[in-house]
Amino acid sequence: MQLVRIHTFLNANKRKSAVLLLLSLIFFLATCISNTKTKSTDIRSDKYAGTATCINCHKTVYDNYTKTAHAATSSNQLPEEVQAAFANGNNIFHFNDSEYVAMEKTGNVFGQSYYRNGKKMFTHPIDIVVGSGRKAQTYLYYNDKEKISQLPISYFITEHDWANSPGFPADHPKFDRNVPSYCMGCHSSFVDVKQTYTGAVMQEAFQKNKIIYGIDCERCHGPAKEHVDYHTEHSQVKEAKYITKIAGLNALQKNDMCALCHSGFKDVQQSLFNFKPGDNLNNYYIPDYGRVDTAHLDVHGNQTQLMMASKCFQLNNNLTCNSCHNVHVKERDNISLLSQRCINCHQQVKHSFDSNDKNLTAALQHNCIDCHMPLKASVAITMQTMANAKIYPDYIRTHLITIYKEESRKFLDSLNRTATKK
Ligand code: HEC
Ligand code: HEC
Ligand code: HEC
Ligand code: HEC
Ligand code: HEC
Ligand code: HEC
Ligand code: HEC
Repeated sequence: MQLVRIHTFLNANKRKSAVLLLLSLIFFLATCISNTKTKSTDIRSDKYAGTATCINCHKTVYDNYTKTAHAATSSNQLPEEVQAAFANGNNIFHFNDSEYVAMEKTGNVFGQSYYRNGKKMFTHPIDIVVGSGRKAQTYLYYNDKEKISQLPISYFITEHDWANSPGFPADHPKFDRNVPSYCMGCHSSFVDVKQTYTGAVMQEAFQKNKIIYGIDCERCHGPAKEHVDYHTEHSQVKEAKYITKIAGLNALQKNDMCALCHSGFKDVQQSLFNFKPGDNLNNYYIPDYGRVDTAHLDVHGNQTQLMMASKCFQLNNNLTCNSCHNVHVKERDNISLLSQRCINCHQQVKHSFDSNDKNLTAALQHNCIDCHMPLKASVAITMQTMANAKIYPDYIRTHLITIYKEESRKFLDSLNRTATKK
């Protein structure tokens, strides 16, 4: 009897318990999913997964990428060479008889101190390092008014010496030049900044330490939280989901991905941090439809315009930055590898100076670059080191790919010299 009663009870509750079972199953599954769907801690928004998550499925790309200049273009850490240059004797930059700036370390903090008539007036710490250290590095600090300011002394890596920051006065140190967020728009993945307007004048207030250093995966590929969540749940799926396929973009869209930071300083229409692959550059900068004046375009920063003015691009609109650069890998100065990328399109080039000399032919094959993309002095970026007060321009590869008679002759001469030496 007892048993029957229990049985009817069970029967009566069958639907209820089925519902309960289903509910608890849903609950169980939901916790499972929310376990894989970890909450994003990225300061940009919950649409971003954070670059550390990419390593789980893209380890090779990730490991190679961390060694590139992009990944290190801003940080809160000084490279060892610069730390060493803080040592006594190497650490003073004189502006005039009574004023100098000293690079000083107090505890663990590196900073620049202002001295007048031998007396220390103040010190500002180096909070942010800008530049990976390819050629030059410049230093910023948070000053107390929610501003970021640039320090007067930069480091010129190629000269292994301190230098007056580009564009700074040469006769006295300047500590109050504010840096706009635009600067970090090309040199970081995010800075938290509040913009307010008084009429047409814009004021920026930076949130201290709310910054993502370097250019990270999602800076180029766009927010990828959904992509990470999907592939974590569906490990059997081998085709990319919820991420823009770059191979599916047209050449203009591919070039715009790079032109965002490689087409020089222009008037900005919206935060560069909003840019995603496939976006149109004209929605970020006021478009410039003027004719490109390659003779006066600085080699610094204007790679896009110079490339587009080259015959390689004009007669083959499929030429993109990626035709030559693999941005996931550090390929700097690998002239032989980069020349191979020219040969992909120029299989049979006949030069007037071709000869039967095997060594010479091989040398030409391994270096198309020094003759066709020679280093040119930047007009915009020059630095004055104190040591000899000489003004050094920054030498940059021109992306106007064409015939340079003068440089070609020099390069041929140098090849012939080494050939005769052997
Ligand atoms: C759980 C695994 C997983 C994680 C984590 C992951 N991905 Fe992917 N991703 C994949 C798979 C699978 C593919 C498709 C196969 C491939 O191209 O490697 C892919 C492809 C891609 C592609 C190529 C798209 C194309 O076809 O052009 C990009 C870009 C990408 N992922 C970016 C990222 C970024 C950025 C992160 C970190 C924020 C990330 N992925 C994290 C699994 C993952
Ligand atoms: C400077 C911009 C940039 C950054 C930063 C960047 N990528 Fe890419 N990525 C590209 C471009 C451009 C392509 C397309 C390459 C091509 O088709 O030639 C690409 C392609 C890919 C692909 C598909 C093709 C392949 O090479 O496997 C994956 C996966 C990928 N990226 C993952 C990542 C991950 C992970 C990171 C961070 C560790 C990252 N990317 C950082 C620009 C970038
Ligand atoms: C968010 C801004 C940004 C984007 C987008 C960007 N770059 Fe850069 N790129 C930089 C900055 C800044 C540097 C200088 C890095 C440094 O040394 O501090 C740089 C440096 C480089 C270098 C020199 C690297 C070296 O080791 O000397 C190459 C090549 C390059 N970029 C190519 C590309 C290509 C190709 C793309 C598009 C797929 C691209 N960049 C997209 C900002 C960007
Ligand atoms: C429109 C994008 C853009 C803006 C804005 C920008 N830069 Fe750059 N910067 C670049 C690119 C691209 C390079 C490297 C390629 C080149 O020299 O043409 C570079 C190179 C540098 C380098 C040399 C890096 C090295 O490792 O040799 C320093 C230092 C630097 N920038 C500092 C700054 C500072 C400080 C600001 C703001 C006041 C700033 N940049 C604003 C794009 C930009
Ligand atoms: C995507 C294909 C492509 C790539 C990659 C490419 N080129 Fe070209 N290039 C062309 C085309 C097309 C022309 C115009 C027809 C011709 O002269 O062959 C051209 C023209 C030239 C010219 C003649 C320029 C002039 O002003 O008369 C030179 C020199 C040249 N390329 C050198 C190079 C070098 C060096 C590289 C590598 C750094 C390179 N190209 C990469 C397609 C390419
Ligand atoms: C035809 C091949 C080719 C194309 C296309 C190309 N580059 Fe380059 N780029 C080179 C070579 C070669 C170098 C010199 C390599 C080196 O010195 O490490 C170089 C160097 C650079 C540098 C470092 C310059 C310096 O001296 O500091 C930057 C930045 C750069 N490229 C960006 C770009 C961008 C952005 C695009 C697309 C608008 C692009 N490149 C298209 C071949 C190319
Ligand atoms: C020593 C310098 C030098 C080197 C190295 C060199 N070139 Fe040239 N290139 C020239 C000069 C100078 C010309 C003009 C024509 C001539 O003198 O043959 C030229 C012409 C060209 C042209 C145009 C030819 C035409 O028919 O209009 C192309 C394309 C070209 N070179 C590509 C390359 C490629 C690709 C490489 C590497 C494999 C390379 N060059 C290596 C100096 C050089």
